[in-house]
Amino acid sequence: MASVEIKKDIYWVGAIDWDIRDFHGYEIPHGTTYNSYLVVDDKTVLFDTVKKGFMDELVDNIKNVINPEKIDYLVIDHVELDHSGCLPDIVALVKPEKVFCSPMGEKAIRGHFHNLDLPLEIVKTGDEISIGKRTIKFLESRMLHWPDSMCSYLQEDKVLISNDIFGQHWAMNERFDDEVSFDNLMFESAKYYANIILPYSPVAIKFLDFVTELNIKPEILATDHGVIWRTHIDKILAAYRKWALQKAKRKAVIVYGTMWGSTDMMAKSIERGLVEERIEVKSLNLSSTHRSEVITEILDAKAVIFGSPTLNNGILPSVADSLTYIKGLRPKDKIGAAFGSYGWGGEAVKILNQWMLDMNFDIVDDGVRIKYIPNQDDLKACVQLGKLVAGKVKELVPEN
Ligand code: FEO
Repeated sequence: MASVEIKKDIYWVGAIDWDIRDFHGYEIPHGTTYNSYLVVDDKTVLFDTVKKGFMDELVDNIKNVINPEKIDYLVIDHVELDHSGCLPDIVALVKPEKVFCSPMGEKAIRGHFHNLDLPLEIVKTGDEISIGKRTIKFLESRMLHWPDSMCSYLQEDKVLISNDIFGQHWAMNERFDDEVSFDNLMFESAKYYANIILPYSPVAIKFLDFVTELNIKPEILATDHGVIWRTHIDKILAAYRKWALQKAKRKAVIVYGTMWGSTDMMAKSIERGLVEERIEVKSLNLSSTHRSEVITEILDAKAVIFGSPTLNNGILPSVADSLTYIKGLRPKDKIGAAFGSYGWGGEAVKILNQWMLDMNFDIVDDGVRIKYIPNQDDLKACVQLGKLVAGKVKELVPEN
């Protein structure tokens, strides 16, 4: 992919990673992009680099625009290695006059690149530099997604280089939001939010408020992953606010593993109870559903019902895997219930309830445990559990 001019003298010069499938536990079946931006002015500035291994693509794209040695400044918006992996090589090539980063960015750079000598200039929120016809205003965006994260706003062009915020892990040759299916774009953006930004939702709300307070009204959101927003900016800003507030709908997610099929039978009866009460349900068997799909479905659900058979006095490894991941992403204001079959012991439901308590879920029932294979009465109890959860969801979530 060649460089793309996104506004006069502002270029996308990043790299496309078609092959990556795992991003620290987040399954990304469509790969991703590492977006870098080049601004040509009296001072030429490169914003962020790309992951190690993509140096040639980055340099080729820069060369489409300008000799890389003519770059004056580097801006390091984020030190996670998908954006800074090529920093030492770029510094060696460009020999920048100045490198800008946030105060936490300096610490992260020192911690990652121990012997790299950089002409660092530390910038804080509200600091501005002139590069000729343009002014860059820096906005720290701590914890979106690391403590060092910041955004760079090109004031005259109204371009917000937003780093990880508003991204999608989606490899493609299209560069803009209006060149891809809007529904797919919003799905990938929601999945990215659920898997990357969700634990920092309170910070995301503050960031959105702060952008409004500063009267920043970007005409382009140049994110560091996926497509650049130029048409649907209002929609992604509104979606971020909704996701950050964790507004749930009348939806339940059943997340479960099964050993010999009994817990699967229970899940299907619980699903029936919810459907009969006209609650939207997603039933996710962990033998065929990845943890990152689970958290994506939980994002806008009010209820989560976890199921596991008892295995060796514990829960199935696949359920423990998803619970560990979900807990780290800190979904808020959920109600929950548990179910599972057992042969002897039968500790799984108690363990699942404890997981939910640890995640501050409001548990609506002690849960349903069935010995061996459920009979018709057992399955009726599962249907009733579904109806009970449905009733609580209706009580807590107003009808649209
Ligand atoms: Fe795209 Fe937090 O790195």
